[in-house]
Amino acid sequence: MHQVWITRYGPPEVLELREAATPHPARGEVLIKVAAAGVNFADIMARLGLYPDAPKPPCVVGYEVAGEVAAVGASSAGFKAGDRVIALTRFGGYSSHVSVRQEQVFALPPGLDFAQGAALPVTYLTAYQLVVAMGRLREGETVLVHSAAGGVGLSALNLATIIGAKVIGVASAAKHDFLRQRGVLGLIDSRAADIVDRVKQLTNGRGVDLVLDARGGQSWRESYDCLAPTGRLAVFGLATAVGGGRWIGTARALLGVPWLRFNPFRLMNDNRGVFGVNLGHLWDQNELIRNWMSQLVAWQAQGKITPVLDRSFSFEEAAAAHRHIEARGNIGKVVLVS
Ligand SMILES: NC(=O)c1ccc[n+]([C@@H]2O[C@H](COP(=O)([O-])OP(=O)(O)OC[C@H]3O[C@@H](n4cnc5c(N)ncnc54)[C@H](OP(=O)(O)O)[C@@H]3O)[C@@H](O)[C@H]2O)c1
Repeated sequence: MHQVWITRYGPPEVLELREAATPHPARGEVLIKVAAAGVNFADIMARLGLYPDAPKPPCVVGYEVAGEVAAVGASSAGFKAGDRVIALTRFGGYSSHVSVRQEQVFALPPGLDFAQGAALPVTYLTAYQLVVAMGRLREGETVLVHSAAGGVGLSALNLATIIGAKVIGVASAAKHDFLRQRGVLGLIDSRAADIVDRVKQLTNGRGVDLVLDARGGQSWRESYDCLAPTGRLAVFGLATAVGGGRWIGTARALLGVPWLRFNPFRLMNDNRGVFGVNLGHLWDQNELIRNWMSQLVAWQAQGKITPVLDRSFSFEEAAAAHRHIEARGNIGKVVLVS
């Protein structure tokens, strides 16, 4: 089999395609011949040495795949060779073959091809946790979505639309037309210095009911200031650490974090909530994740969910895929295809 390795921390060129022995599925595992593997922003952060959860290089990252079952291990019930599936992989997804615990494997929803299948698990499960499970967004409420044209952002927009909520999107100006066509009511340039004022203008001074913020740093302070009474802020990433080098980027992002602002007294007196999301730390919560996935698959079957695919790159082109995301070029999801 072949795999894309992060050989050391650094620019996209540190990614290298290598051959390795194809794994055998262990007891309770399913071996998948990968047709498409999702590329996530966390992978870029892992390559840059900015993602503490990732294995140390040399390593193979990748959180999700779609493909065909090649073999099943002992006592792996429910799947057989040839089944079309999607799966969560806690690293190792950038591989032509991957062996995964059967609890993390799901049937590929009918109507999706492999690239769309690989685009679904991480972004939609994260969006589900943010918008539905913890954000509790309701019909008629307003949500502010940062990086609205990205993988998670467009998934969150999709779920907010299903719920009947209004969306204000923050994104690079070049992505605004696309977002407008998908029903985003208010649009703000992600480089704007007055995001709080813009949000207040768009909501007649009230603020929003939910903010999804994976930019982090200083942005969390502004997002908190965008909340209406009873509003909730979801913190789930630190994208602002990217750019300017490993140590400077991290220092800049951490210095901007409003460490003391979200203290219990402030939250109580403001009637606001702040919550955190890290899907990777729910990896063993099989029942929870399967319940969320069932709901997503049901919506997909009703035609309510369609993952937005930006571009497919071959495994050989993994560096180009990373460069594209790091340059903020993607609208929707980027995948690697075999
Ligand atoms: N905690 C979790 O469980 C979890 C799970 C999945 C994703 N995440 C986080 O959610 C965010 C979105 O992930 P994704 O995979 O869907 O990525 P993505 O949104 O498809 O791509 C990243 C986007 O972030 C924006 N961005 C803001 N600051 C940036 C910077 N310094 N460098 C590059 N881009 C920057 C850009 O949008 P504009 O150009 O439009 O500003 C860019 O297009 C990431 O921060 C990721 O780490 C967290």
